[in-house]
Amino acid sequence: MPTPNHTPAVASPALPAAASIQIRDACLQRGANTIFSDLTLELSEPRIGLIGDNGAGKSSLFRMLCGLDAPQRGSVTVHGLEARTVSSKRPGLVGMMFQNPDEQIIFPTVAEELALGLSPSGMPRRQAINQARAFLASRKLADWSERAIGALSQGQRQHVCWLALMIASPALLLLDEPFASLDQPGQALLAMDIAQASQQVIVSTHLLEHVRHFERVIWLDRGQVRADGPGEAVCAAYQADVAARIAAQALSYQ
Ligand SMILES: Nc1ncnc2c1ncn2[C@@H]1O[C@H](COP(=O)(O)OP(=O)(O)OP(=O)(O)O)[C@@H](O)[C@H]1O
Ligand SMILES: [Mg+2]
Repeated sequence: MPTPNHTPAVASPALPAAASIQIRDACLQRGANTIFSDLTLELSEPRIGLIGDNGAGKSSLFRMLCGLDAPQRGSVTVHGLEARTVSSKRPGLVGMMFQNPDEQIIFPTVAEELALGLSPSGMPRRQAINQARAFLASRKLADWSERAIGALSQGQRQHVCWLALMIASPALLLLDEPFASLDQPGQALLAMDIAQASQQVIVSTHLLEHVRHFERVIWLDRGQVRADGPGEAVCAAYQADVAARIAAQALSYQ
C-alpha cells in the first residue's frame, strides 16, 4: 500500500539500487506514425528532465512508461514489471500528470477527484474524501473541496491534477508539461513540491528553468535521444540549436 508522503524531504532522494525504468530497443508506432525506433534508455536518477520540440516524443515516452501504449517491439519495464501490466499488478506505483488535464480528470468535484488517488490503498470512499478535504486544507485550499472541476480555469485544473498525484503519492511521478498553464506562484509551488518529493520524478517541459538544475536531462529529437546528461549542459545545447535554427529561418525570410 503506498504511503502518502507530503512531508518535505530534507536531503535529495536516494538513488534506486537498480535502474527503476528500463527501455530496450523499443519501437513504437502510433497510427501511421513511427514514434520510436530502437529506443534504449535506463532511467534511475531521482530527477530527470525531458525536453525537445513539439512532436519530439515526450508524451509518447510517458505513455509507454505508464503502460497506455505498448511498444510493438522491444520492452519497457518499470520496477521490474512490464509497463503495460503495472496498473493491474501494482496500482499506485506509477502516477501520470497528463499534458491535457481533461485526459486525467474523472470526477465532478475537486475532493472527489483527489479521493480517487487513495483508492489503490483500499481506503473506504468516505474516508478518502475526508482525507482529500484535509489535504486541501493543509495546502490552504479548503474552499476548493466542493468546487466543480468543470468551472475551474485551465491552470486551476492543472493544479488539481498535480494535487491528485501528490495525495496518491506513487513511487514514480511522470509529469507531462506540468507547468504549462500554471501562473507564476503555481509554478514556484510546483517546483518546490518537485524538489521536496521523495519519489522519482520525470518532468517534460518547454520551460527549461525548471529542469536546468536536474542532474539528468534528456533531449528528444524526432523520437531519438539527441543529448543526455547534466541539465545545464543539455539545456544549453538545446538552446544553442534552437537559436541556430531561428537564425537560419530568419535568413530564409529575407
Ligand atoms: N494519437 C496519435 N496518433 C498518431 N500519431 C501521434 C498521436 N499522437 C502523437 N502522435 C505523433 O507522435 C509524435 C510525438 O508526439 P508527442 O505527443 O509524443 O510529442 P511531444 O514531444 O509530447 O510534443 P509536445 O511538445 O507538442 O507535447 C508526433 O510526430 C505526433 O504527430
Ligand atoms: Mg507532449
